[in-house]
Amino acid sequence: MNPNTGLILCQISKDFFKFYKLYINNLSVCLFLLAIIGRLLDCLEIKISKIMATLGVNIDHIANVRQARKTVEPDPVQFAFLAELGGADSITVHLREDRRHIQDRDVFLLKDTIKTKLNLEMAATEEMLEIAKKTLPDYVTLVPEKREEVTTEGGLDLKSNLQYLKNFVGNLKDSNIEVSAFIDPVGEQIHYSKEIGFDFIELHTGKYAELSGSEQYKELQRIIESTHLANDLGLVVNAGHGLNFNNVKKIASIDNINELNIGHSIVARALAIGLEKSVREMKSLLTSI
Ligand code: PXP
Repeated sequence: MNPNTGLILCQISKDFFKFYKLYINNLSVCLFLLAIIGRLLDCLEIKISKIMATLGVNIDHIANVRQARKTVEPDPVQFAFLAELGGADSITVHLREDRRHIQDRDVFLLKDTIKTKLNLEMAATEEMLEIAKKTLPDYVTLVPEKREEVTTEGGLDLKSNLQYLKNFVGNLKDSNIEVSAFIDPVGEQIHYSKEIGFDFIELHTGKYAELSGSEQYKELQRIIESTHLANDLGLVVNAGHGLNFNNVKKIASIDNINELNIGHSIVARALAIGLEKSVREMKSLLTSI
C-alpha cells in the first residue's frame, strides 16, 4: 500500500468538506440545483411522452398537372423522391376509379422506388382490391369515392357496408397489407372501424380546416376525443385533409396522432417557392442566344 494513501484520503476529505460548505451547505444553492434537476426531468418526460406525428405527403396534385396535358411531366415518381429528400415519412397516392390524376403505372413504380412507405388510397371496389394485392403497398386507406367530387368530401359510412367491408379488409390483411379507414371524427364510426378489423383510422380534418374561431375549436375537441377513443380501442390514428401551414400545428400537437397526410398545401407552397427560379432558368435560355 502506498504510504501516502492516508494523507491523500485525508486531503480528498478536506476538499470535499470545503466544497460541501461552500456550495451544498447552502439552502438557496440546494434549491436552485433541485429546480434545475426538476426542469431537466420535465424536459425529458416531455420528450419521452410526446411522440411526434410523422408526415405523409400526398402527391396526387403532381399527377393532376401531368394529366392536364396527358404528357410525361411532371412525374409523380420523381417528386416522391424529392418529398422523401425533404423528410416525408410516407408517400400517399389516391388511385381513383376515373384515373383523373394517379395512374396504375405510378403506383407500381412508386412501390419499387420509394424508400419510405407507400400509402395507397382507394375505394373499396373489386378492381382496386386486385391492384392492391398485386402492388402490395405498405398500407391501404379506404376512402369513399364519388365521380363528380373535386376531392374526397367526407369520411366512409362504415355502418351501411359492415359485412362487405369486413370481407374486404380481411382480404387485404391476408396479403399482409395494413388497412386504414378514412372517417369523420365520430364515435360511432370509430367503434365500427374496430369491429370491421381496421388497423388504423384516418380522421377527416376537412371540417376543422374550413371552420374558424369557436367553431373550429369545437371541431378540434371532437378530433381530440376521437383520437383518445380510437387509442383506447387499440387503433392507430392518422389525420388529414385541408391541413396547411396555418392550421397544422394544433392537429400535430394532439397526443398519439400517428401520421398527418397533407397534399394540396405542400404542392401549392412548392409552386410559390419554385416558380421564380423556374422562370429565371427559362429567361436565361432566351437571353443567352
Ligand atoms: N387524406 C385523404 C384520405 C385524402 O383523400 C386527401 C386528399 O386527397 C388527403 C388526406 C390530403 O388532403 P389535402 O390535399 O387537402 O392536404
